[in-house]
Amino acid sequence: MIKAHTLWKRIWDAYVVLVTIYAAVEIPLRLTVGYELTAMLLWMDRLMIATFSVDIILNFQTRIYVNGQEVADRRAIARNYLSGWFIIDLIAALPFDLIIAGWLPHLTYAARTLRLVRLFRLVRIAQVMQRITEANIISVGVLRMLFLGFWVLLVAHWTATIWMAIGGGNIPAEDQADNGRYYIRALYWSITTMVTIGYGDITPQSTGQTIFAMAIEIAGAAMYGYVIGNVASVIANLDVARSQYLEKLERVSTFMSFRRIPEDLQERVRRYYAYLWQSRRGYDESHVLQDLPGSLHTQLSLYLNSSLIQKVPLFKGASPDLIQQIVLSLRPAVFTPGDYVFRKGELGADMFFISRGAVEVVSEDGRTVYATLHEGDFFGEIALLESSPRTASVRAVDYCDLYTIDKESFERVLRNYPDFAEGVQALARERRQMTGDRRIQERQGRRPEGVINLHGFRKSSGIVELTWSRSAGAAVYQAARQQPGEESWRMLNGCIERLDYYDESAPGEPGLRYRVRAVNQNGPGDWSEAVDV
Ligand code: CMP
Repeated sequence: MIKAHTLWKRIWDAYVVLVTIYAAVEIPLRLTVGYELTAMLLWMDRLMIATFSVDIILNFQTRIYVNGQEVADRRAIARNYLSGWFIIDLIAALPFDLIIAGWLPHLTYAARTLRLVRLFRLVRIAQVMQRITEANIISVGVLRMLFLGFWVLLVAHWTATIWMAIGGGNIPAEDQADNGRYYIRALYWSITTMVTIGYGDITPQSTGQTIFAMAIEIAGAAMYGYVIGNVASVIANLDVARSQYLEKLERVSTFMSFRRIPEDLQERVRRYYAYLWQSRRGYDESHVLQDLPGSLHTQLSLYLNSSLIQKVPLFKGASPDLIQQIVLSLRPAVFTPGDYVFRKGELGADMFFISRGAVEVVSEDGRTVYATLHEGDFFGEIALLESSPRTASVRAVDYCDLYTIDKESFERVLRNYPDFAEGVQALARERRQMTGDRRIQERQGRRPEGVINLHGFRKSSGIVELTWSRSAGAAVYQAARQQPGEESWRMLNGCIERLDYYDESAPGEPGLRYRVRAVNQNGPGDWSEAVDV
């Protein structure tokens, strides 16, 4: 049995279409012009009959599709063919003309006319067109245009031959004497009439010609409208994705200028859409996937994410089941340069895989970069594993294609695949440690901030109490005193661990001034404002 979609079957089908087109052009022409039957034409006739006959045999041998299922059962195929195209194919393949010409030579014209039944085969061209559409060889729009052009030309050709058969109107006799010139003039008449131009240089003479001309005019007007309508719709649909994208961009742009969105923000939105177009032709793959039934959904998701799976080291050697479960839970997300994927302290509901681009894991203020993650890395697992707030902020470095997996699916995967869970947890531990160390180092690298809210009270004649607020980064505090009339400050205690201090050697005179500063191993912070006691 032959498979319906093999290359050879397609080439054969294309060849049969060419032979059919030859028949559709040549048979009416020979009938009306009645030119000499050369040996070459005779051979072409035989080739035509042979081709159509072989095609019948092949049709009995070719698998068919019933309700999307390939059927290889001979009986079912025969039944299907016999109740469908068989009759038309058979009539087209029978050599009526040769049979009649052999037995009843005086009926040659009738025999030639009978050859017209071969034109029935043209109906089959629609079927081939359907197959070309399914095979996605050329775009549906282009194919429709070609098909339309083919039919218009073929109908014009038939009309020209009929016009010749009924006398050709007022085409001059000297033009009619030459077959080629006669045909061209008739074709000119049929095209001008069909496309509703009708210059009127060739006009009908007899009643029959007039009726025929009127029929063609009416049919031409209808066909003209049909063709124009089709061409317009084909052009509009030629690139649906692009026109939808442009329409969306137009709508968003109009909205943004109506709401007076700042120009640089508008530019960022536009660049985002441009990126979506470049990277995925504006399609949101989750929308495409959601229309598909289960198994196709899985297969397409696996294919779409296969490059991501290959990039993630954690998936190396993972079982296909695990990969399938993860892939089915992934949702795409795009971030533009500088966007925060999330910030430190937020509650985490997703974990992220990087498919394209890079992100930075940064401190809360965004100044310290703990790590830069690239294609195939993942992040956001700590908050999910520990049900804790995010331990760091994550910022996109350039355009990033990320895939997210939600907490529920992530936990299900961890439950079902302990080895995988162990890998993720080990990496999370390592990261937490690194980030934690970096945070301590960072704090240690800086001097403490200045002391604020310093207050001083005289408790008794020799005692002054000082209090102040905690200063960020302080290890200990230092307090100093200035006496009235003196320029210099005297250090009272260089290692105060609390947020208050009693100056028990305070002179009794008024006008004392105090100040406090915080210190750590990197040095002292700024002195506080002085207070008068
Ligand atoms: P989570 O705490 O959910 O949010 C911040 C994420 O940054 C964190 O999970 C980790 O995935 C990631 N992260 C934290 N520290 C590091 C690090 N040192 N190297 C790489 N990634 C990190």
